[in-house]
Amino acid sequence: MHLLSFGLLLALYMLSTALDNGLVKTPPMGWMTWERYRCNIDCKNDPDNCISENLIKAMADKMANGGWRELGYVYLSIDDCWAKKQRDSNGKLEPDPDRFPSGIKALADYVHSRGLKLGIYSDMGNYTCGGYPGTTLDTIKIDADTFASWEVDMLKFDGCYSNDTEKAIGYPKMSSALNATGRPILYSCSWPAYEGGLPPKVNYTLLGSICNMWRNYDDIQDSWASVVKIIQWFAANQDALQPVAGPGHWNDPDMLITGDYGLSYEQSKAQLAIWAIMAAPLIMSNDLRTISEEAKDLLQNRLLIYINQDSLGIQGRQVMKVGCLSVWKRQLVNDQYAVAVLNTGDDGLPRPFSTSLGLLNITEYSAGYKLYDVFNTEYVGLFKPISPINLKINPSGVVMLFIQPATVAPHRSYFGFL
Ligand SMILES: *[C@@H]1O[C@H](CO)[C@@H](O)[C@H](O)[C@H]1NC(C)=O
Ligand SMILES: *[C@@H]1O[C@H](CO)[C@@H](O)[C@H](O)[C@H]1NC(C)=O
Ligand SMILES: *[C@@H]1O[C@H](CO)[C@@H](O)[C@H](O)[C@H]1NC(C)=O
Ligand SMILES: *[C@@H]1O[C@H](CO)[C@@H](O)[C@H](O)[C@H]1NC(C)=O
Ligand SMILES: *[C@@H]1O[C@H](CO)[C@@H](O)[C@H](O)[C@H]1NC(C)=O
Repeated sequence: MHLLSFGLLLALYMLSTALDNGLVKTPPMGWMTWERYRCNIDCKNDPDNCISENLIKAMADKMANGGWRELGYVYLSIDDCWAKKQRDSNGKLEPDPDRFPSGIKALADYVHSRGLKLGIYSDMGNYTCGGYPGTTLDTIKIDADTFASWEVDMLKFDGCYSNDTEKAIGYPKMSSALNATGRPILYSCSWPAYEGGLPPKVNYTLLGSICNMWRNYDDIQDSWASVVKIIQWFAANQDALQPVAGPGHWNDPDMLITGDYGLSYEQSKAQLAIWAIMAAPLIMSNDLRTISEEAKDLLQNRLLIYINQDSLGIQGRQVMKVGCLSVWKRQLVNDQYAVAVLNTGDDGLPRPFSTSLGLLNITEYSAGYKLYDVFNTEYVGLFKPISPINLKINPSGVVMLFIQPATVAPHRSYFGFL
């Protein structure tokens, strides 16, 4: 119980020092173009998959009609390569006229009419990473005003083509400029990823006071190796990173690639489990028009989303590592917990792992806890702190448990399966 009140105090404290635009009290959820669609501007040969208003509208329709929006996936975000190669005669950014003929304001209207929010991309520097016009120190105000006039709801601010000094001035300046527009705009900062992601070079106290989320580390690629590399980096640096996340300001290990080409079914579960434990933004980059039912079911798992969206907003931690097995734990509201056991091994035999709530330090309730398997969507049973919990973790896979005091009544809203 003491732990909980400490957690609450910590959450309140973090809230009071956070960027105060009222947004993302729980990690943002949505969809973004980059991982899957990159800088594909070839609408002539690949009209369905090029960065264009058609792609965004198609995803908006899917997010609104495919059950995504109701679960919280509401941010629909355009990454790099949307802009015209030159600013207009007034110095404003413009969208590419062939790929966004209706303009961004009309696209925002379309997205809003579907009950969603539109995100856009810009870059603190001379150019975007893809070579489009960047936002330099002298164009920050005009760009913030332009985005607000288009009624955009989120800005991802990348960091190619600028030096450290310019970033140190530009990221806070954009935060102020967004605030001055009067429109609440989720502000996603790529800054730390360009500075090695760690203190003392990165000042996370400062970031928490100017950004709603930030990319700490390298871009995700469509592979298990990339997912593992990201997980291991966050685990190795969790003492620095875990305390800086909280309501309104989140670490961002990058997009979800479930539904793409690179991950197996087990690996998809593993990414989702660790992202949920890390209180990470759940921003997909995939094709919602052709996604498999299997991938969709994973991304729409209500209990997984409930865990990710926990109102305490305390990022979880890796609490144990034994060879290729690692145990991850996140404290949730109402003395609930989520625990994930990850197997990064490639030995084809599912690996046995025995533990207990006592060994996991989940012991406050002597009456015990109800355990639920998040991905098997089933009730596992009532466990006392000393009862053995015997698991088998598939190779490059995960077992994720939701742990609830025996005395708490389950909510059907997040147990779709009960
Ligand atoms: C701007 O910042 C002030 C002070 O932190 C805050 O109260 C206000 O809600 C912010 N407005 C927007 C639009 O972000
Ligand atoms: C940005 O452009 C300015 C002016 O051309 C140039 O001096 C500077 O070196 C450029 N910065 C980077 C990081 O490319
Ligand atoms: C960074 O760029 C600015 C110009 O925008 C320049 O004045 C400054 O010297 C540069 N700093 C470094 C460390 O290169
Ligand atoms: C980090 O930023 C905060 C808030 O701006 C500031 O008070 C603090 O001194 C900075 N810490 C370091 C080590 O620079
Ligand atoms: C449980 O608590 C003990 C003592 O504080 C600590 O050494 C151990 O690492 C913790 N284990 C877990 C799984 O959190």
